[in-house]
Amino acid sequence: MLDVLHVTGGGCVGGTLRVSGAKNSALPILAGTLLVNGIVQLRNLPHLQDVTTMIGLLNLLGARFLVEESMHLEVDTRDIHCFEAPYDLVNTMRASFLVLGPLLARFRRARVSLPGGCAIGSRPIDLHIKALQQLGAIIEVKNGYVHAVAPNGLVGAQVVFERPTVTGTENIMMAAVLARGTSVISGAAKEPEVVDLANFLNLCGARITGAGTAEIKIEGVPALQGSCDYTIMGDRIEAGTFLIAAAITSGQIRLEGVHPKFLSCVLEHLILTGAMIDQGDDWIALDMQGRRPRAVSIETEAFPGFPTDLQAQWLALNCIAEGEAVVKENVFENRFMHVQEMQRMGAQLTLCNQSVTSQGVRALHAAGVSATDLRASASLILAGLVAQGTTVIHQIHHIDRGYEHIEAKFLNIGCKIRRSLHQGAEERTEKAVQ
Ligand code: EPZ
Repeated sequence: MLDVLHVTGGGCVGGTLRVSGAKNSALPILAGTLLVNGIVQLRNLPHLQDVTTMIGLLNLLGARFLVEESMHLEVDTRDIHCFEAPYDLVNTMRASFLVLGPLLARFRRARVSLPGGCAIGSRPIDLHIKALQQLGAIIEVKNGYVHAVAPNGLVGAQVVFERPTVTGTENIMMAAVLARGTSVISGAAKEPEVVDLANFLNLCGARITGAGTAEIKIEGVPALQGSCDYTIMGDRIEAGTFLIAAAITSGQIRLEGVHPKFLSCVLEHLILTGAMIDQGDDWIALDMQGRRPRAVSIETEAFPGFPTDLQAQWLALNCIAEGEAVVKENVFENRFMHVQEMQRMGAQLTLCNQSVTSQGVRALHAAGVSATDLRASASLILAGLVAQGTTVIHQIHHIDRGYEHIEAKFLNIGCKIRRSLHQGAEERTEKAVQ
């Protein structure tokens, strides 16, 4: 039985939320524990399907865990005895591919299933492979697996990424930490999650400088020591999702546990919609003062540009905002699966190549819709908040991968949302038109 979400439109968002730990920090940092011959403490881990999957993978490799209260995790990677990430796990979650670099660096071998594509694109990993080879890895791709060995250990090198890749940068940075000599990654991804990973590794004894810029320098060290205690950063994408929820409903929200500097581009665009923004070191407040947002065009880019992970949520905003705007997706080749779902709800959208032009309408109308990827599912909740009637969202397993306690958070800010088990078609239709 698959769960569905019922979202009843009307009313506006109002309240305060604490943002969960960042999924896209937690995953590489968990993979990074494989580099440590010891015990580490990780705090502020989000309670997410993807985090559970990564913990399951590390457990399969031989890591041991002690789950403290509220996702404070103790990870012991002294007895890693398996070096294979199997198809079923990597296929469940692409980020499992992040164990390749650490296993190769510390154990000089790894067998990792090729991550498949997904709803948003083919998601190649050619840049990861090429960069690891530049560090001296001998890699063969056969039978759907990447077989990698480094019999004499990895050797520091100059690695150039012809385009920024977040997990590519993270995989290579981790591999270089235990390489002999110094590595320099040029064309590195600048995402805050790359910086969070570097901070964790440096706390364990790595020597990484330049994370957050296009050039990262890693001086190889013989080993990383345990007994470090690290707190994962707040999830800027979750924060952006809830800021847009307040904007789309002409409401107000205060988010705690997130650094505004990681959302500068999004905040600039929210101000253009007419939002009043206030901020501190680790909090952001948005107030629409009851006004309908103005439609604002965006183009997704690598950090510090507008994040592709907030593109679908922004499109939902433009659906009911005043005026015409264009959303252009430059990062992934197929990240508009949510467009047809929003059109079912009455959105006036025209998709042409990698751009969607919207004509804002006053309100959408409820419908039965299906989520297609993690962020698209969040955008359908936002659309449901401003639809007349109750929207029923199917395939919400996508959403549980990336948003912790999603209903509780929306309920906490005044939204009408509930989860139920899958319904028959007739009941689904009846509900949707209520
Ligand atoms: C990370 O994916 C995130 N995932 C994604 O978040 C995010 O959308 C993406 O970065 C972009 O910001 C995690 O951090 C776990 P990329 P990643 O490599 O690293 C191309 C979410 O919803 N490319 O930066 O896989 C690729 O096709 C997820 O939380 C190659 O061509 O993305 C894409 O067009 C979705 N060859 C572009 O680079 C490669 O070897 C950027 O991809 C690698 C990537």
